[in-house]
Amino acid sequence: MNDMFTNKAGDVCITPRIVVYQTRDILKWFYMKCCMIGGDIPVITFAHHKGGTGKTTSCLNIAGYLQKAGKRVLVIDIDPQANATSGLGVDPAWLSHSMYDVFMSRIDRSAGVSIREIIRETRSGIDLAPSSLDLVGAEPFFYNIPDRSHLLKHLISNLPGYQFVLIDTPPSMGQFVINGLVASDRTVITFDQGIFALAGLKTLMAIFDDVREYLGDTIHAEMAIVTRVGQEGGAVPGGGFLKVLKRILGIQTGTGDARAEQIFLEVEEEMKKYFQTVYTVPFNHQIAAAQRRGLPISHYDPTCDAALAYERITQEVMTWE
Ligand SMILES: Nc1ncnc2c1ncn2[C@@H]1O[C@H](COP(=O)(O)OP(=O)(O)OP(=O)(O)O)[C@@H](O)[C@H]1O
Ligand SMILES: [Mg+2]
Repeated sequence: MNDMFTNKAGDVCITPRIVVYQTRDILKWFYMKCCMIGGDIPVITFAHHKGGTGKTTSCLNIAGYLQKAGKRVLVIDIDPQANATSGLGVDPAWLSHSMYDVFMSRIDRSAGVSIREIIRETRSGIDLAPSSLDLVGAEPFFYNIPDRSHLLKHLISNLPGYQFVLIDTPPSMGQFVINGLVASDRTVITFDQGIFALAGLKTLMAIFDDVREYLGDTIHAEMAIVTRVGQEGGAVPGGGFLKVLKRILGIQTGTGDARAEQIFLEVEEEMKKYFQTVYTVPFNHQIAAAQRRGLPISHYDPTCDAALAYERITQEVMTWE
C-alpha cells in the first residue's frame, strides 16, 4: 500500500493507513502523558510523627471513597508496620516482594524489582504497593546515597494509569516520611485528641520548614483531620473546628487558666497558618471492624457516621484532581 497519494487539488497527502497509525500513536502518547505520575496527578501523603493519629485509617478510607467514585487509586505503604497493607486485606507475612525490594533495587541501582511488579489489586478494587516488616531494614541504606530523600519520587515518576496516589507513612520523622513528603504534592496531617499530638504539631511544622529549606521542596499541608472525635463529625472548617478543639481539650478561654489559654492560642495560630480545612471524624467501632475485614469503611459500612465523614472529606480531595 502506498503511503502517499495526491488528492483532487493536487496536494500530496499521506494515506489513511498512516493517518490512523499516527493518530493512534499520538493518542497513546497523550494517554501515557496524562497518566504519568509527577504531572497533574495528585500524590497525597498522610503524615504525623506521632503514632496512632489516624494516618492509615484516613488514607484507606479516602482511598475507598475515591475508588467508589470510579477513580483509579494506588495506595503506597511505606510503613514497616504494614497496617495499610493488612487494612486492604493483604497479609504482609506472605508477600514475596514489597516496597523493601523496590527501595533496595533503587539503592543498589540493580534491575531488581520495580514498583509496578509489586502492585496488586485488593478486594475493594484499590491498587496497593504493599509493605512488610523487613522494610525497616532498608532505611539505614538510604544514608549511603546522596539523593536519598527523592527515592520514592523517582520510583513513582513513570507509573501510568492512576488518578490518585495515596502514601501511608510511619509514625516517625525518618527517611520514609521525608520520602513521602518529597514525593507528594499534597499532605494530610492527622491528629488524635491527645494534647501530645497537638504539642507535636510544632515539631512537624519545623520539619516541614527544614525540608523546604534543605531540599527546596514545598510541602503543602492543605488538610488536617482530627480522628476519633467524641460524637462530633463532619467538616468543621476554621472556627468550627476550634470550638470542637476547645471542648476536646477542656479549654475554656477567658477563665484565667493562663497556660490553657496560651496552648489554645498557639494551636489556633498554627492551625490557621498551615491548614485550609480541618475535618473531624467521629469515633466508631466500625472503622476498626472494616480494617480487620480488609476493607475501607466505604465498602463495609457506608452508612455509619465515620463513613459519612470520610465521604465528605473525599469530596474535597476529589477537587485536587
Ligand atoms: N474514627 C475512628 N473510630 C474508631 N477507631 C478509629 C478511628 N480512626 C482510627 N481508629 C483506630 O485507631 C487506631 C489507630 O489508627 P491508625 O492506625 O489509622 O493510626 P496511625 O496514625 O496510622 O498509626 P501509626 O502511627 O501506628 O501508623 C486503629 O486501631 C484504628 O482502627
Ligand atoms: Mg499507620
